[in-house]
Amino acid sequence: MVGQSLAKLFESRADDLYVGYGLKPRIVAVSDNGGMACDTAGLDCARLVRAKEQKGTVAAYSDGRGGGGSNGGGGGRTPDISSPTAAEMAEAVSGADVLVETTPSNYKDAEPGMTNITDAMKRRMHVVSVNKGPLALAFPSLNELAAYNRVMFRFSGTVGGGTPILDYAKNSLSGERITSFSGILNGTTNYILSAMAEGMSPKSALQDARKKGYVEADEALDLDGLDAAAKLVILANWVMGMKVTMPDVSCTGIRGVTSADIKRAARKNKVVKMTAACGNDALTVAPVAIPRDDPLCVNGTLNAISFTSEHSGTQTIIGRGAGGTETASAILRDLLYIRQGITSGAYG
Ligand SMILES: NC(=O)c1ccc[n+]([C@@H]2O[C@H](COP(=O)([O-])OP(=O)(O)OC[C@H]3O[C@@H](n4cnc5c(N)ncnc54)[C@H](OP(=O)(O)O)[C@@H]3O)[C@@H](O)[C@H]2O)c1
Repeated sequence: MVGQSLAKLFESRADDLYVGYGLKPRIVAVSDNGGMACDTAGLDCARLVRAKEQKGTVAAYSDGRGGGGSNGGGGGRTPDISSPTAAEMAEAVSGADVLVETTPSNYKDAEPGMTNITDAMKRRMHVVSVNKGPLALAFPSLNELAAYNRVMFRFSGTVGGGTPILDYAKNSLSGERITSFSGILNGTTNYILSAMAEGMSPKSALQDARKKGYVEADEALDLDGLDAAAKLVILANWVMGMKVTMPDVSCTGIRGVTSADIKRAARKNKVVKMTAACGNDALTVAPVAIPRDDPLCVNGTLNAISFTSEHSGTQTIIGRGAGGTETASAILRDLLYIRQGITSGAYG
């Protein structure tokens, strides 16, 4: 979903990315579970998206199953009609500046993202990841690996989708000392708890969220708080300078929240929200009752996070926490950052 959204974004914004930012991205290799496509001259984004949408795999790009059409084939060139060999793929990748990692997040061994990222860094490629798994399990060592290989490692889309939560804390609050933060970082559980606050039973709220496609295939990632915990780990490392991973988070999901809990909170003018919080060196994900007028009380699938700083008080940023297009726009932000780093000469 995110990969396709990025290809669409490159296609639809090609002119203004070039005119406005001097960015002319060239995708030289892509892969999915069905295979791969590569072309050192650059793959055609529209053709790639058609191959994926119509045939289910990017591998269809190069064997003639990619849908053809007027936009087909590397900006008007006749596409190569044979599947790429491993050697061709390796050659395409060897000339690339950046890996954009968009495989599924898993919190057991973080594969295949972990290997993709570490291999790329060792080849001295910059990395943009929207995959939270490797960061949740190994943020400190990945950061060290990036520094050792003198490459940039960016991951804006891992927290808040397109909402620039990480950039806000790191850049807009630079010079401040953030002492704590607390946020609603998982839209799915927020949707379920919001529906329960409106009177739905936990079971119906979950069914409704499933029907709308909000729940991950592995629903434990949402319901047991793992997705929120992964984002908390990324924030704690990046914003607070902590060196922590998933096992450092005390994590309680929403499976135990009952309608009675919701009603009890309502009687005190509070709302139950699953918050991810960092304060006093403790990392916690748990359902808590917060005052109804707290800015964190957003409904539906929205995300919100409040940063408390030493001098500027508490500020809250609210936005959509997921979505293919939104997350692709976060990748674009990271690519622009990397482009700036490369052109500045800081990274040879
Ligand atoms: N969707 C969002 O709103 C959002 C927001 C923020 C972050 N993220 C993160 O972004 C990542 C991608 O999310 P998504 O929604 O785009 O998921 P997705 O639609 O499931 O896409 C994952 C892609 O990875 C490919 N893939 C899986 N295993 C692979 C392997 N071993 N080798 C090569 N390709 C492999 C899949 O190929 P096939 O299609 O062939 O199966 C699929 O194209 C996840 O880590 C997610 O947590 C997503």
